[in-house]
Amino acid sequence: MVQVNDPITINRTVIKNRLTMAPTVKFDLAGEDGKVTEKHIAHYRERAAHGCGLICVEATAVTPGGRFAKNHLGLWEDAQINGHKALTQACHEHEAAVILQLNHTGITANPDCGPSIGPSAVPTRDPSVLSKEMSVEEIHEMQQHFLDAAVRAKKAGYDGIQLHGCHGYLINQFISLKTNHRTDEYGGSTENRARFAAELIRRIRKECGDAFLISVRTAGIEPDVATACAIAEEYVKAGCDYLQVSTGIEWEDPSVTENGEPYNRFCSLGVRFHEHFKGRVPVSCVNGILDVSLARYLIENELTDTVDLARALLADPAFCEAVLEDRPYVKCFNCPRCQYGPGMPHKCPAEMKRNADRELS
Ligand SMILES: Cc1cc2nc3c(=O)[nH]c(=O)nc-3n(C[C@H](O)[C@H](O)[C@H](O)COP(=O)(O)O)c2cc1C
Repeated sequence: MVQVNDPITINRTVIKNRLTMAPTVKFDLAGEDGKVTEKHIAHYRERAAHGCGLICVEATAVTPGGRFAKNHLGLWEDAQINGHKALTQACHEHEAAVILQLNHTGITANPDCGPSIGPSAVPTRDPSVLSKEMSVEEIHEMQQHFLDAAVRAKKAGYDGIQLHGCHGYLINQFISLKTNHRTDEYGGSTENRARFAAELIRRIRKECGDAFLISVRTAGIEPDVATACAIAEEYVKAGCDYLQVSTGIEWEDPSVTENGEPYNRFCSLGVRFHEHFKGRVPVSCVNGILDVSLARYLIENELTDTVDLARALLADPAFCEAVLEDRPYVKCFNCPRCQYGPGMPHKCPAEMKRNADRELS
């Protein structure tokens, strides 16, 4: 039986256990220059020090126009490399592997940051405004921005990168029929819709070498699981080493329901992907893994290769130790407070409880 403590080798990176920190943007940590701050380093170091096997650093913009908001982490210029270097060193000191999630918002661009651009002209955050359809030349330029950021990530000491291919951002917009109406080589068939990311994976592999871990966080449903798997097959063919599975834009698959399993339907997408890719590509599932028993259940029953932990690790940076060593922990309250967005309250009740407990002890 696989145990949560068992290492796993992804490409050539040895990950010491099956627990990964899911990418989680922390707007309150970044400034407008997009550089890593001391607060970022402390945030990730703490999770690494408490046993996390692999840290996937939050969505990081490949151009200023692709940021979620003005205070958002970036790697669009060389001046940003040093901060990331300090961050990767902090994780490596604690033997955590670390990869960086690269992103562009595309159609859902924040107008404070840049224009809304994407595979097709479709409604944006303001439904009365349409996005600009990218020309093939603009697509190639955008791929270059992702590639440049990946090369910088390698210089900064990351073990690899992750392409943000879900949650409705640019790469997801290419694969979704709702946002991609193109009739050229970047639209239509599954292969064509996957082309933007697949070409990118091949170019990153060529530039960053065979040992560089390339992951995609992909939509587990778009609009159904079979199509989403076919898209991911294109990524794997191109050289993707590791799939983390979350949600996409369209959900039209009645086979994905809450069906009495101890995990939710979002997490079940990762389980379905794991069945599909078993023995070929490691898969991680995410969503609602907020307690130790569920994390263990998913690994020990071989329903996934790794578990991706987001809010559990925001609520308690030592959640991995709780899973690995059966220690007590503060459980995420499953409230909407940490859902990202400037202006959202960032006071996490679990964090408040942790601080109060610390004062008492
Ligand atoms: C505060 C916050 C920030 C997030 N930032 C990202 C991100 O940068 N990239 C990403 O792919 N998902 C992001 N997500 C989604 C999480 O990675 C994860 O998929 C989701 O929270 C469900 O997992 P959980 O139940 O373990 O929290 C974010 C979620 C939260 C709550």
